[in-house]
Amino acid sequence: MSEGSLHRDPDVVLRASGIAVRLGGAPVLTNVDLDVPRGAIVGLIGANGAGKTTLLRVLLGILRPDAGRVQRPGRRAGIGYVPQKISLDPHAPLRARDVVMLGLDGGRLGIPLRRGRLRGVVDDALAQVGASAFADARVGELSGGQQQRVLLAHAIVSRPALLLLDEPLASLDPASARDVVALLDGLRRRSGVSIVVTAHDLTLLLPVLDRVAYLAGGRAAVGAPSEVVRDDVLSDLYRRPMRVIEAAGRTFVVADEGMATE
Ligand SMILES: Nc1ncnc2c1ncn2[C@@H]1O[C@H](COP(=O)(O)OP(=O)(O)OP(=O)(O)O)[C@@H](O)[C@H]1O
Ligand SMILES: [Mg+2]
Repeated sequence: MSEGSLHRDPDVVLRASGIAVRLGGAPVLTNVDLDVPRGAIVGLIGANGAGKTTLLRVLLGILRPDAGRVQRPGRRAGIGYVPQKISLDPHAPLRARDVVMLGLDGGRLGIPLRRGRLRGVVDDALAQVGASAFADARVGELSGGQQQRVLLAHAIVSRPALLLLDEPLASLDPASARDVVALLDGLRRRSGVSIVVTAHDLTLLLPVLDRVAYLAGGRAAVGAPSEVVRDDVLSDLYRRPMRVIEAAGRTFVVADEGMATE
C-alpha cells in the first residue's frame, strides 16, 4: 500500500484503487476504486454491514487492505476523522473546547502556537460548526447532536485537507441532520476541505454530494449522483430490482417490491 502523496493529480486528494478486505475469513470489500476530488463531498452509502466503516478505516490507513493501494495526503495530520462510535463519559471533566484542543495535540499544525493564538484557533473551529454557545459545557452532558458538532470541530481544528466522517447523521433528528449537512456544505465551500461521509440513507445527503459510492455485496458503484443513483446501476449493484423515487423534492432508493431499504 502506498503512503505517497498525489503529486501526479493535484485535483485528487485521495485515491484508493483495487481495495479488497477480508474480515473474519469473509470478503467485505472486493476490488473497490474510489477517488476523492479536492473540495468535493463524497457519500459512502450502504446498508448495515455493507463495509462503509471498513472502507473508511482503509482510507485513513488504520486497516491494511488485503489488496489494493491508497494514496493519501502526505501528512497523516492531513486527515480529520470522526469515528462512528464514541462514548463520552458524562462525568469526565472535559469541556467542549478541551476536546477540540486535543485535535491540535502532537504539534499537528507543525508549528508551536502561543497560548492566545491557540485559544483563537479553537474558538474558530467551534464557531465554524455552530458550537460556540456550548464551548465551555462538559462534553458528556451535551446532546448527541451537540457532541457531533464538537467532534467535528475536533476533526477540523488542525485544518486537514480531508475529513472522514462515519455516520455523522445517525443519532440526529431530521432537523439537526439537515443542519449538519448544511454545515458540511459550508465547510467545504469556505475551506476547500474534501469530505467523505458515510450514511445508510442517501436522502438527506444527496443535495450536497458531488460523488456517491454505493456499497453492496462487497462491490461499489461510484460516480456522480446522476451516474449512480439510477434504477439500472443500483439494480446491478444489489443484484435485485431497485427503484429511485422522487417524492416531495427528495430522492429515495427502494427495492422494487416497494419495501424501503437502504
Ligand atoms: N473486526 C472484524 N472482524 C470480523 N468481521 C468484521 C470486523 N469488523 C467488521 N466486520 C464485518 O465486516 C462487515 C462490514 O462491517 P462495517 O462495519 O464496515 O459495515 P458498515 O457498512 O460500516 O455497517 P454499519 O452501517 O452497521 O455501520 C460486517 O459484516 C462486519 O460484521
Ligand atoms: Mg459503520
